[in-house]
Amino acid sequence: MITMDPTANARDERIRKRPEDYPGANLSNYEDFIGKFAWDQARALLDGLPGGGLNIAYEAIDRHLKAGRGDKLALRWIARDAKIRDFTYSALGAQVNRFVNTLAEHGIRKGDRVFSLLGRVPELYFAALGTLKNGSVFSPLFSAFGPEPIKARMTIGQANALVTTEAFYRRKIEPWRKELASLEKVFLTECSANLPPDTIDLAAALAQASEVCETVQTLPEDMALLHFTSGTTGKPKGAIHVHEAVVAHNVTGKLALDFHPDDIFWCTADPGWITGTSYGIISPLTNGVTMVIDQAEFDAERWYRILQDQKVSVWYTAPTAIRMLMKTGADFAKRFDLSRLRLLASVGEPLNPEAVLWGMQAFGKPFHDNWWQTETGGIMITNFLAMDVKPGSMGRPLPGIAAGIVEHLEGGSVREITKPMAMGELALRPGWPSMMRGYLNEEARYKKCFVNGWYLTGDLAMRDSEGYYWFVGRADDVIKSSGHLIGPFEVESALMEHKAVAEAGVIGIPEPTAGEVVKAYVALKDGFTASEALRKELLGHARQRLGPAVAPKDIAFRQNLPKTRSGKIMRRLLKARELGLPEGDISTLESEER
Ligand code: PRX
Repeated sequence: MITMDPTANARDERIRKRPEDYPGANLSNYEDFIGKFAWDQARALLDGLPGGGLNIAYEAIDRHLKAGRGDKLALRWIARDAKIRDFTYSALGAQVNRFVNTLAEHGIRKGDRVFSLLGRVPELYFAALGTLKNGSVFSPLFSAFGPEPIKARMTIGQANALVTTEAFYRRKIEPWRKELASLEKVFLTECSANLPPDTIDLAAALAQASEVCETVQTLPEDMALLHFTSGTTGKPKGAIHVHEAVVAHNVTGKLALDFHPDDIFWCTADPGWITGTSYGIISPLTNGVTMVIDQAEFDAERWYRILQDQKVSVWYTAPTAIRMLMKTGADFAKRFDLSRLRLLASVGEPLNPEAVLWGMQAFGKPFHDNWWQTETGGIMITNFLAMDVKPGSMGRPLPGIAAGIVEHLEGGSVREITKPMAMGELALRPGWPSMMRGYLNEEARYKKCFVNGWYLTGDLAMRDSEGYYWFVGRADDVIKSSGHLIGPFEVESALMEHKAVAEAGVIGIPEPTAGEVVKAYVALKDGFTASEALRKELLGHARQRLGPAVAPKDIAFRQNLPKTRSGKIMRRLLKARELGLPEGDISTLESEER
């Protein structure tokens, strides 16, 4: 029985675990395990390519086929209309091979960049694994992006091929395709009889392709995945991940998500973001579990039905979704038979203690928060199944991961702070297999992340006396809305393209369900007057260019925006004013703005 200690105050509150709460857990004694763990052991859990080398897709599929596990269900896909398509490991492998042969037939080779812009459809999974097996680099884009974020990422990534739907292509790619000379091949799904010029019908190509192929020889350090992320300033950054990352994807699945061969796993994240790739494709497959994929968007009843009917045992979701479920009440959850659920995990944004505790009411189990980033490639800090959960804490570092809290010193260096509950920047000692190997063509931005042997995460956090980490906030201006990381600069740039906009400043405003929502402040050019009609026009302009996942939900007009003397918009001040918080140090504010 999992019990809660109701007498403890918020920070000391803990959900105690007893051995009967985690029978057969892969990690049952944290201290013991940490002391013995070495990355070489994790490497030894994988096969490697025949003849040397390492390839993510081979570890995800071919290895199981070789070991006679081809009949095991790999992927159960639930279509929007609730129809089901099942793929065993061998059926999935056959589709992946068809995709590899299609790429090869069209001249897409090792090292070439293959982007996807798809909803959660089976072709996305064929494309991800097929691209990796072909030795090409896979870069997934979120299907709710508008044309601008797509164009920016495909241009930075120098895309050679794209897999998307005909409708997305016509609306979001075709208008600017000619500007991207590297983009040679466009494969379309859901095609009409009237295929756009210079595109390939993917279904027809797959139907003609052979189901047999060899894995292209890749080495552990060959680039495999390009995941875009955002910073405070400048364009999106393409975080480079290599095939060696699979070592961490695999072992963190065992340790943090406690994968066992009989598990039925549901990761609700979209593969357009890294959680949906590392843990929505690679980790469950390398661990040989069955994964459930739902094409549809969030719907509380539908989700409970999936958990019940598919007998989901390990569920990986996000705080925004948990908070949406909370709105429907714990009693609603109890109408369903959720007895197969044995591990509930959450990631991507702060998980409030109430949400952890609500898990106890609704499911009889807490949500296990964990922390990581696009840059880290895999889970770094987690509440392990076999460990007490402290609601509001992100948990403790994974075996093989050395974390710390550091303070910034004059002159640019950092120093670890060991005092319990002292706030500083969360930092990690680099060297684990899924750590990014660079930001594509952005050496200076990459180098800036490393100081005195630490990788600086950009998050502020605290560590308590038992080594549990507590998230405090971001050290920079990036916004987390519904778990999606949004760079304010990208939103400001899109607004600035409107003829009426002289300046734009974009911040995240706290919101109870989504965590934060995007708000923009706009100063107009001479000759334009603020009005409700113009506000709506700007909202529409941003939405059309950026897509609903990134566009601001609200826009406010200002005569001027607060700027530093060097002309940088002070988002921090916009936020303090919006929230009625102290303005802090405003010594760099331009004098006329005061
Ligand atoms: O600020 C932290 C927040 O999300 C950031 C990473 O976002 P992204 O690169 O999109 O990675 C997605 C894969 C998880 C972090 O720097 N974040 C992530 N997990 C948590 C979190 N904030 C609080 N609690 C978490 N558990």
